[in-house]
Amino acid sequence: MDLAYLAEWANLLIRWLHLITGIAWIGTSFYFIGLDNQLDPPRDGNPLVKGEQWSIHGGGFYHKQKYANAPASLPEKLHWFKWEAYWTWISGFSLFMLIYWGQANTYLVDPAVMDLSPGVAVAISAAMLVAGWVVYDLACRSKWGENEALLSAFGVGLLVVAAFAACHIFSGRGAFLQIGAMTGTIMVANVAMVIIPGQRKMVAAMQAGQVPDAKYGRWGKQRSVHNTYLTLPVLFLMISPHYPMTWGAEWNWVVLLAITLAGALVRQFFVQRQFGRNPVALPAAAAVVIGIMAFVLMPARTPAGMAAPAFAEVQAITAARCATCHAARPTQEGFAEAPKGVRLDEPGQIRRWAQSIRQQVATEAMPPGNLTEITAEERASLIAWVAAGAPRE
Ligand code: HEC
Repeated sequence: MDLAYLAEWANLLIRWLHLITGIAWIGTSFYFIGLDNQLDPPRDGNPLVKGEQWSIHGGGFYHKQKYANAPASLPEKLHWFKWEAYWTWISGFSLFMLIYWGQANTYLVDPAVMDLSPGVAVAISAAMLVAGWVVYDLACRSKWGENEALLSAFGVGLLVVAAFAACHIFSGRGAFLQIGAMTGTIMVANVAMVIIPGQRKMVAAMQAGQVPDAKYGRWGKQRSVHNTYLTLPVLFLMISPHYPMTWGAEWNWVVLLAITLAGALVRQFFVQRQFGRNPVALPAAAAVVIGIMAFVLMPARTPAGMAAPAFAEVQAITAARCATCHAARPTQEGFAEAPKGVRLDEPGQIRRWAQSIRQQVATEAMPPGNLTEITAEERASLIAWVAAGAPRE
């Protein structure tokens, strides 16, 4: 049995599931926030109804009404929204365990950041997942929790601390995913621990012939609004592994904060538009922040005063530092095939991937966790070779 090979299939299937359920969940989040923000007074004047929306979609007319607290009686069938959230987390957490915990040496630990054993790294990662939720939840439930401005400031502070800590404990890539996982965990826990239990109490009260306490509606709404602002940041963090220029940067925790902030601003813009406002300053600010990041992180094209090395030297470096994984049959444990199909064990292949090699080596994304202990001089050689046009001589 080739475990590394089977793990690749598990990776594919779980990732596929994660995308599907994540799209379903964020889709409902966008839909219901938009619905809530665009309610008109009810045409039939029902005093229990807070507002209604008429819409047309897929060739049909729809009429949705939102009750201020609850309808006079429970309908026979009530549609709940929870499994898309739960399965997003189950699949996401499985993937996180499979990759970042299962191969902690490769993905979570970077000895240049902190020389952790895999076991300790996984323990810290797990503790941070739990702590993020506990601290956030306590803040929401505290007596300041009703003050949205104060709570938002606290939330941003929590993110700053978490990002700084993660980026000084884990590899850059691992840190970004760790913060993504913590944010996703908070979002799902909002559903599982606050919104759904509150709704259960509301339904139970109605079954007992009582009017549900309005606080459950208020609490649920608060968490649901938090979740919507977290959607864009969390999606950036989830795709960040593909972009080593972000997490490979020296000040990667600042990059993390800047881009997640930009995402939240863009989400805020769309929410404001639902109220009929058009604050273009928000996406403009997001564009400026990302523009500055792109400019600041631009790599120098050629290391100063460095002549291109001979191709033989390039081959020697890739053979020693890369081809343990990037070969048709990798010798590195845990690898069944050349990662991402990138083979660096043949002259033609090395030249073919020249630009990607520069990108990966300059940002120190490769070798992961510097497993093969490439030196700074060897990195500079590879970069100088690509800058000179990847010559074959
Ligand atoms: C320990 C195994 C290992 C070593 C050693 C290693 N890599 Fe990788 N490499 C990987 C993995 C795993 C990926 C896929 C990363 C991912 O999942 O995004 C990868 C991806 C890449 C990619 C494709 C990136 C992309 O997504 O487009 C390039 C290019 C690359 N490596 C270059 C190198 C170079 C150059 C070296 C040597 C300096 C090197 N690698 C050493 C494991 C390794």
